[in-house]
Amino acid sequence: MTAPSRLLILVGTVTNTAERVARAIQMDCADLIGQIDVRLMDGLDIRVFEEDALYVICSATHGAGDVPDNASALYDSLDREPRFLGHVRYGVIALGDSIYPQTFCNGGLRFDERLADLGAVRIGDVFRHDASAGTEAEVVGAAWCREWLTHALQTSEPV
Ligand SMILES: Cc1cc2nc3c(=O)[nH]c(=O)nc-3n(C[C@H](O)[C@H](O)[C@H](O)COP(=O)(O)O)c2cc1C
Repeated sequence: MTAPSRLLILVGTVTNTAERVARAIQMDCADLIGQIDVRLMDGLDIRVFEEDALYVICSATHGAGDVPDNASALYDSLDREPRFLGHVRYGVIALGDSIYPQTFCNGGLRFDERLADLGAVRIGDVFRHDASAGTEAEVVGAAWCREWLTHALQTSEPV
């Protein structure tokens, strides 16, 4: 199995921080891989995982620890139309705020749990960004993704 030459970042957001993180990755990591695409999750379903790509789920947390509204159709379809996703390798950027300790970063964590249930293989740990930490999500998210992508591209077999 050779590593895909494309990174697809799927964005769940309400107030656009997650999209800004994805755009920063698109610019900062362009030298590492042939193509980086950023796609808002609006209107997507499980078929988005049929593409020949590495995936990053970049999702905020809203409501009472929920995925953002624009992510709910995709999230629900992982449950409603389940299929084996053993070919999928992915990373997770989970955005949250530690003022919500009970549900900190749950949006991204929910995606991670459901993808793993379907056999998809996460590479590396989930990256959590805390909006109260005083760090810029774009800066630390893109730095994390450089390391993650380097590692993911070296990993020719699912881990
Ligand atoms: C109404 C509201 C509810 C939120 N609920 C949570 C939550 O339950 N858990 C959490 O970790 N963060 C929560 N957050 C924080 C956001 O996930 C965080 O600010 C994130 O960076 C926003 O990303 P976005 O701009 O892409 O939507 C909430 C934010 C708002 C405004």
